[in-house]
Amino acid sequence: MAACMRSGMPIISRVLAACALACACLPLRAAAPETLEQRLAACLTCHSVKERGDAYFPRIAGKPAGYLYNQLRNFRDGRRQYPMMVYMTAYLPDAYLREIADYFANQHPPYPPAPAGSAALADSAQLARGEALVRNGDPAKKIPACMACHGAALTGVEPAIPGLLGLPSDYINAQFGAWKSQARRAAAPDCMATIAARLNEADVAAASAWLARQTPDANARPAAALPQPLPLACGSVAGAAK
Ligand code: HEC
Ligand code: HEC
Repeated sequence: MAACMRSGMPIISRVLAACALACACLPLRAAAPETLEQRLAACLTCHSVKERGDAYFPRIAGKPAGYLYNQLRNFRDGRRQYPMMVYMTAYLPDAYLREIADYFANQHPPYPPAPAGSAALADSAQLARGEALVRNGDPAKKIPACMACHGAALTGVEPAIPGLLGLPSDYINAQFGAWKSQARRAAAPDCMATIAARLNEADVAAASAWLARQTPDANARPAAALPQPLPLACGSVAGAAK
């Protein structure tokens, strides 16, 4: 939570933004439109990659379907906490969440640059530290390279590891805060919780700033597989593979 506060976007303003948007979304939900695409138009109020000025909402288009499905279930079942997402997924059956995940995994709109947010404040020393963590990790702190799991191009890996480019730095910082406080959880062993516990806040800010400043390839797709085994076991990956 401390990370959210420092990011310049206190959690309360995010909650208020969600409530304001909820008014826009509710009628769409109540009207029960015909097609899946029409029903999911409400999601784009926040997750559209077009005209996105907000420094917090994550891109969901083009992420691996198994990853999206895991997250929708995590919100529904209390392993992630954002109120509007909890509301949107409440009582939805697994089969429908799977359908929604497949729909967004197959969307590939172009990547706009990630919103500047806190990354704009990073100096060259922080960016160098961030790049080193992403590419090589930090063996002294037992932190594997982010690329060892998220892929050499950072586009994610099928079926359940997300890409890291095009995400706002403030969103990434908030996720690390949530792993540290256990507000965000995944199936055990929860590799990101382990990594978050080993990274201090300066390292998180460095990595998120460098990531947010990279320009994603417009044709980026998740890798089909990694060339080597994961450096730490991740329960969410094993679960999705079944
Ligand atoms: C009011 C804004 C809002 C609406 C509407 C909304 N979301 Fe979200 N969504 C968010 C925010 C903010 C997050 C990040 C929450 C957090 O900090 O964990 C999120 C997270 C997610 C994630 C996890 C992303 C990731 O990379 O881990 C998925 C998947 C998702 N939303 C899907 C949907 C779907 C599907 C819909 C429509 C049914 C939807 N969202 C509607 C705001 C919204
Ligand atoms: C051992 C493999 C592994 C390593 C190393 C790793 N990650 Fe992850 N990461 C994952 C998995 C698996 C997930 C999906 C977790 C889930 O399902 O909630 C994930 C999720 C994430 C997310 C959530 C993305 C979103 O859209 O919400 C972020 C951010 C992230 N990792 C950043 C990093 C950074 C930065 C590093 C390097 C410091 C790193 N990861 C290293 C496996 C790894």
